[in-house]
Amino acid sequence: MFFEQARIRHARHWLHALLSLFIVLAILECAPQSQAIHHMKRHIAPRQNFGGNSVPLIVTNWCGETIYPGINTQGGTSGPSQSGFELQPGNTQNFSVSADWQGRVWGRTNCSFNSQGNGPANGGNGGWSACQTGDCNAQVSCSGAGAVPVTLAEFTMDGGDGQSYYDISLVDGYNLPIAIVLQGGSNSSFQGIPPNATNPSCVASLGNLNPDTNYWPYSNGQATFLNTNSSSPLPFNTKTTASDVSNWCPWDLQVSPPQKPGDGVYPYPDDNIQRPVFDPCYSACSKYRDDSDCCTGNYNSPQKCQPSEYSKAVKSVCPDVYSYAYDDKTSTFIVPAGAGFEVIFCPGARSTNILSAESSLHSQIAGSGHANQGAGEIGETADSTLNASISSWAVGFAIVAALVTGALFSSL
Ligand SMILES: *[C@@H]1O[C@H](CO)[C@@H](O)[C@H](O)[C@H]1NC(C)=O
Ligand SMILES: *[C@@H]1O[C@H](CO)[C@@H](O)[C@H](O)[C@H]1NC(C)=O
Ligand SMILES: *[C@@H]1O[C@H](CO)[C@@H](O)[C@H](O)[C@H]1NC(C)=O
Ligand SMILES: *[C@@H]1O[C@H](CO)[C@@H](O)[C@H](O)[C@H]1NC(C)=O
Ligand SMILES: *[C@@H]1O[C@H](CO)[C@@H](O)[C@H](O)[C@H]1NC(C)=O
Ligand SMILES: *[C@@H]1O[C@H](CO)[C@@H](O)[C@H](O)[C@H]1NC(C)=O
Repeated sequence: MFFEQARIRHARHWLHALLSLFIVLAILECAPQSQAIHHMKRHIAPRQNFGGNSVPLIVTNWCGETIYPGINTQGGTSGPSQSGFELQPGNTQNFSVSADWQGRVWGRTNCSFNSQGNGPANGGNGGWSACQTGDCNAQVSCSGAGAVPVTLAEFTMDGGDGQSYYDISLVDGYNLPIAIVLQGGSNSSFQGIPPNATNPSCVASLGNLNPDTNYWPYSNGQATFLNTNSSSPLPFNTKTTASDVSNWCPWDLQVSPPQKPGDGVYPYPDDNIQRPVFDPCYSACSKYRDDSDCCTGNYNSPQKCQPSEYSKAVKSVCPDVYSYAYDDKTSTFIVPAGAGFEVIFCPGARSTNILSAESSLHSQIAGSGHANQGAGEIGETADSTLNASISSWAVGFAIVAALVTGALFSSL
């Protein structure tokens, strides 16, 4: 009902090719964890065991300052050889993980470790934390999640259905800009997937943003950007201005709000107060832990849990990311399993707007996410799938309803 019929027929031919990209309606739950909020809790079939198959997991720092990436392995046959390390500006660290790896990557900022790397420098000055954001118990090597607020790159490299699921999440707050770049390598299964549909980016820091709303990286001496070029350009978010990006974090959720003016009262609106350049932001859920923000307790359903001011602000600066547990269907990327990924911190340019650029295609929901399902079947099953999903949500499950978007590639 959402597609033009002609487009569906055209798309059907492409659905039989392996290059289908899927976008899911992925339902997340945010329940408190020791340090970070665990919210990627999809109910998916058990993963296949790929055995010895390994894929690259590459971590790159384009920030102007040294960061300490952290990697948290949540499942899979084998994870990266390191779970936390120093990464200087411009440097890249290549890992290989099993093709069924599940986990998340984040960046720690403003770190200062002791010489053993197992505690903060100077004894921590009263707090057991070595990094201003993303800290993992003041250890260089992380054994758990990073402290909120933290931007996450999340991967389920094999959901058990032959698909890889990945996303950038601001459900636990925001500290650094992140992009994810699919690494299909020489596998021909990925050659036909347009890179401008698989490589999302979220730049919500003024210092990393190109302020020109029409910024076009391909004509600025940068022939390729996030593995795309001018023949398949990334759709950028052209709506947000530099001022929007500097002010998106709700006042009370800033980690370090600027000093109050002389009388100790914030004027309203507060737009005229200069915010810090590095302005990490708690999510409403990570700061207040209210059921209504975390979609827990009495709010554990998409009907009852509405996006907060934070979630709406996130979606406006970073349209392709998860902003709250029951975010809409424009947050998770799905590709055939077997690819690796690169996580780039501080990618620059502007946030992408891939999923809503294709929103008319993504409105179609299919239940199983099987790659070879025909478009006609999708249209017919959409309603019952959605209903089934909603009833599952009602009993507290987080489920995945996949959107088959083979039509995405009908223009190839
Ligand atoms: C890391 O991976 C990238 C992308 O695959 C590659 O270009 C680079 O040569 C690799 N670096 C090392 C040191 O292996
Ligand atoms: C913290 O890190 C950010 C990002 O790397 C940087 O912009 C900022 O200057 C740092 N702040 C301090 C106090 O070092
Ligand atoms: C642009 O990227 C496509 C793959 O998306 C590739 O086939 C093409 O050769 C690239 N063009 C240039 C000029 O690099
Ligand atoms: C990717 O680039 C192609 C042109 O090669 C364009 O038709 C398509 O709309 C782009 N996809 C997105 C998501 O912007
Ligand atoms: C290439 O990708 C396909 C699709 O996911 C996968 O089934 C296959 O195992 C991959 N081939 C190699 C050599 O990794
Ligand atoms: C889905 O639910 C709506 C409202 O409850 C109902 O009208 C519709 O018939 C249902 N669709 C299917 C396919 O069950």
